[in-house]
Order: sequence, then C-alpha cells, then structure tokens
Amino acid sequence: MSRSAHPAGPRHADVLPEGHYFAPPADLNALDPKVWARTVTRTDTGAVSVGGLDVGALAEEFGTPAYVLDESDFRARCRAWHQAFGGEADVFYAGKAFLSRAVVRWLHEEGLNLDVCSAGELATALAAGMPAERIALHGNNKSTEEIRRAVEAGVGRIVLDSFQEIVRVAHIAERLGKRQRVQIRVTVGVEAHTHEFIATAHEDQKFGIALAGGQAAEAVRRALKLDGLELIGIHSHIGSQIFDMAGFEVSARRVVQLLADIRDEHGVELPEIDLGGGLGIAYTSDDDPREPHEIAASLSSIVTRECQAAGLAVPRISVEPGRAIVGPTAFTLYEVGTVKVLEGLRTYVSVDGGMSDNIRTALYDAEYSVSLVSRASDAEPMLVRVVGKHCESGDIVVRDAFLPADVAPGDLIAVPATGAYCRSMASNYNHALRPPVVAVNDGAARVIVRRETEEDLMRLDVG
Ligand code: LLP
Repeated sequence: MSRSAHPAGPRHADVLPEGHYFAPPADLNALDPKVWARTVTRTDTGAVSVGGLDVGALAEEFGTPAYVLDESDFRARCRAWHQAFGGEADVFYAGKAFLSRAVVRWLHEEGLNLDVCSAGELATALAAGMPAERIALHGNNKSTEEIRRAVEAGVGRIVLDSFQEIVRVAHIAERLGKRQRVQIRVTVGVEAHTHEFIATAHEDQKFGIALAGGQAAEAVRRALKLDGLELIGIHSHIGSQIFDMAGFEVSARRVVQLLADIRDEHGVELPEIDLGGGLGIAYTSDDDPREPHEIAASLSSIVTRECQAAGLAVPRISVEPGRAIVGPTAFTLYEVGTVKVLEGLRTYVSVDGGMSDNIRTALYDAEYSVSLVSRASDAEPMLVRVVGKHCESGDIVVRDAFLPADVAPGDLIAVPATGAYCRSMASNYNHALRPPVVAVNDGAARVIVRRETEEDLMRLDVG
C-alpha cells in the first residue's frame, strides 16, 4: 500500500501518526486476486466464500482463529511449477513453509519432490508416503542422528553445508554400506534485496560454503575423494521473498562457473544444479510477483547461456519454492474482539489470535492486508492496526490497513497470504492454542492439522 506525504497536508483519518498519508483502496469490499486464494469470492450475501463454502459457516464449524487453505489452489500452484520447466527440472517444495501429511500427499500426487530440514520434517514426509528418493535433506547443523535416518531411509540427496558435514555424511554412509547422493551448498556472495534475516547468500552468515577464497572448490575436492559420497551437484539459495531475478542470475552464473572449474580440475561434469527457493508472493496489492513459467524461462535461459559459454552440457536444474506454492493458498480467519479508537492517533482492532499464529509482522516488519469477510459494508474506510491478544505491544498482525469504519466485535476478518511461515512458525506464547489448518476443496472442508487443546499443553507439562 502506498505511503506518501499527505496531498492535503493536515492530519486526516488516513494519515498515520508517523505523518505518512496512506491511500485507502477504491473498494473495501473488493478482494484482490493477487493476495487471495483462487476460489475466494464475495457472494451475493456480501459474505466471503472459499472453495464454495461460506466463511461464517467455517468459523462456526471450526472456530477462530483458523488457517483456511484452498486445496485446489495449492494443487494448481504445484502443477504450474511442475509444468513451468516443461519437465526439464525438479521442483522440491520447501516443507519449512508449511508441512503436514495431507500436504505431502498432495505434493506426491502432483509430481513434486520435497525439501526437508529436520528429523521432524523427514518423519512427516516418510509417514505420509513420500518416496525417500524424492526427498532432499537440508540444514546447516544436521545432527548425526538426522543424517543417519536420512541415509538409512535412502533420501535422494543431502545438501552438504560445511566441511565437517562432508566427512560426517561420508562416514555415516560408509558405515551403512551406502553411497549417498549429495550436493554442496555454496554461498555465491549475492546481496538479495530482502529482509536481513531471510537473506542467505552474502558471505557473512551461517549457511553454505563460500565460493570466495576457493572454499567451495576445496569442499568439492574433499567430497570427490570420499567413497561414501556421490557428488551430484551444486546448490545455492540466495534468500526469501525476492522479486528481482538479478540475484538469481548472478547466482546461476557463479554456480555454472564453479561447474566449469570442477570440470577443468577434475575432469567431471556434475549433472545437477539447484537454484534454491525464495520467490516472492503478493502480501498486499503493491507486490507484483512473477508467474512460475516466467521464472522458469528466465532461470533456464541464464543457465543454458552460461553453460554454452563455458562449453558445458546443461545440467538438470532443480528449484525449491516454499512460499510461492503455499503462501497465497491460505488466509487466517479471525473474530474481532474489541475496537479501540484512540482519538487523533490510531484505531486498534483486536483479534482472537496474534503473534502466536503470525510472527512475521513482529519479526520481519512484514506487510499484510486484511478484509472484513463476514459481510460487505458501505461504511467509510477507516485506517486501523490489527493486533492480537498477547501481552506484548509488538503483537501486531497488520500494521496499517483499512477496514470499514463500522467494523465491530463479532465480525470476522481475514488476513490473506498466510499459508507460508505462519502455522509453521506458530508458538504457544501465553499458552495460546495453535489454530487448526482447515483445507477446503470443492464444497467440502476438513481439518488437516487440528487445533491444539489444553490437554495438548498439559501433556507436555509433566512437572
Ligand atoms: N531452500 C532453502 C535451502 C531454504 O533455506 C528455503 C527457505 C527455501 C528453499 C524456501 O524459501 P521460500 O521459497 O519459501 O522463500 N521464515 C521466513 C522465511 C525463511 C526461509 C528459510 N529458508 C519468512 O517467514 O519469511
């Protein structure tokens, strides 16, 4: 949403206390398809429906807060990514964005692979029937036990993240009488234009092995010598919520250069490169993400061009989108509890969740949008801050947004684009019970992750 100096100068209902003018949308009842899941519409009654189901009925049946996930949209996005490269690349969904057994089954059915980064994610993937060879294990500090379980299960690849890990994985594989397929994750030295905490390819950080100073080349040297490892490629992930393809371009160029150096030094052409995830989505109407086919075309052409220039056969590409698949497919449904008007300052709309179900606003200054969904309203737009119920003033869900001025306790409001990194980063702060994930599809709704209960809390509390 656009912030600028107020055109008329003086304070106004749509001027933030910080002094910026904040333009209200033309129609508050409209639902921008950029930020909402595909089957979300406002029906004739004025209420919003998803997958053919009224949000009021969903709130009644499943309670609030709840994450409501559009299964058909999730599957459509999987297919779009799968088809984007014309079958010439492997798509690994990044499970950290959101993982459950149902999601694993959908991925499997839609032909995607899965990137996991912990024993818990690996266990979920295997329990739901993802074939091990379609799983990649990530992490900058995988435990010996995690590595052992992954090798034993027969995962398709382990992405090596440090010199110690090269030796560790090789030893474990040898002890199990296996040769583990691995990639080496390199840091390419790109400054991705995103929040500092989610940028991962500049050199001063904990992930990967730096290309700079020959570190990555040394890692390759060591990996090629070990019997327990089959080095299949090089991996790079430059960060998250990125719109600009320039960073991927630099990254691809540097990874291909490393492949050429490896060929020159060792006489082997590694068959794969992974360019990671990180593709941005629209959280507000101001964001303009690219479609998977555009991203695929751009990545493929960069890699092909660079390989031709280096005289290399084009390696098989893989990518690891998480947010771009699941993010837009879900919204969080909340009930309004209180509306507090601080005259001349700000209006706080409090909901029955907060930073326990969406930490991203507090953690990354993330921007979200919000709409009144239980009814339409002709009331004037009112600039509000949507906050949660936690004992913390930083408990903000949507920093600045417009809701109709008649928004009142009992109304349902929804925050779109919460499919990624909301349930997966949810907490029990203040002993909040983590909300359920309700999947809707073609007129039917089912809980795929149930709401936590007080018994769940008590079960862990064994003192
Ligand atoms: N591959 C690797 C190696 C990763 O580390 C990540 C994300 C992905 C793929 C998927 O990235 P995506 O396509 O979802 O952006 N909690 C933060 C995001 C952290 C991302 C960590 N790694 C957030 O809420 O924005």
